[in-house]
Amino acid sequence: MTRFSRARPLADFDEPPELSAFDSGLPTVDAWLTEHAAEAEERGSARTFIVTADDGSVAGFSCLSMTSIARADGPKRLRANMPRQIPAVLIGRLARDARYTGMGLGASLMRDAMVRAVAAARSVGAAAILVDADAGAVAFYTAVGFRPTRVEGQLYVTMADVEATLNA
Ligand SMILES: CC(C)(COP(=O)(O)OP(=O)(O)OC[C@H]1O[C@@H](n2cnc3c(N)ncnc32)[C@H](O)[C@@H]1OP(=O)(O)O)[C@@H](O)C(=O)NCCC(=O)NCCS
Repeated sequence: MTRFSRARPLADFDEPPELSAFDSGLPTVDAWLTEHAAEAEERGSARTFIVTADDGSVAGFSCLSMTSIARADGPKRLRANMPRQIPAVLIGRLARDARYTGMGLGASLMRDAMVRAVAAARSVGAAAILVDADAGAVAFYTAVGFRPTRVEGQLYVTMADVEATLNA
């Protein structure tokens, strides 16, 4: 049975893993990893975290950045006593290679992203995690507490709920 590494920052690899072989089944997600992850890392616009399989290939990844949601677009729960732009952490992408579907890797990447988001929020302030979910992944996110914002396709979970989930 394949064993997976912990999620490691892309920047921590002495020798970067081969990104182009990654195949999540969603070409736009795969293309981001191949074409933009390294540059985003260099520019500091997003941080990418990689899980590798036994053979060193990329089994899954997530990327995180800071973002904000306009108070008017936020659901009622999120809006109360908030500034006009509500600070949040964005899960830009989160995917596993299709070879590892249904093995818990997506859930494990999500937990890792949540832990990192909570840690970031302790230093810089962020009231929620946001994600622009592909239609096929909405149920995956909903199962861990994400709910729709007023922006089409965008989901959120409050940082307080994330902390509760992690502590459950
Ligand atoms: C969404 C995704 C990350 C799930 O990864 P996965 O490793 O196959 O899922 P897991 O094995 O960790 O499943 C965790 C739970 O979510 C459920 N689940 C997984 N994919 C689901 C989906 N598409 N819809 C509904 N539930 C889903 C599983 O049944 C499981 O539930 P359980 O804990 O009750 O058993 C994966 O389908 C993926 O990488 N898709 C392509 C990229 C993508 O759409 N990313 C999101 C937008 S960037």
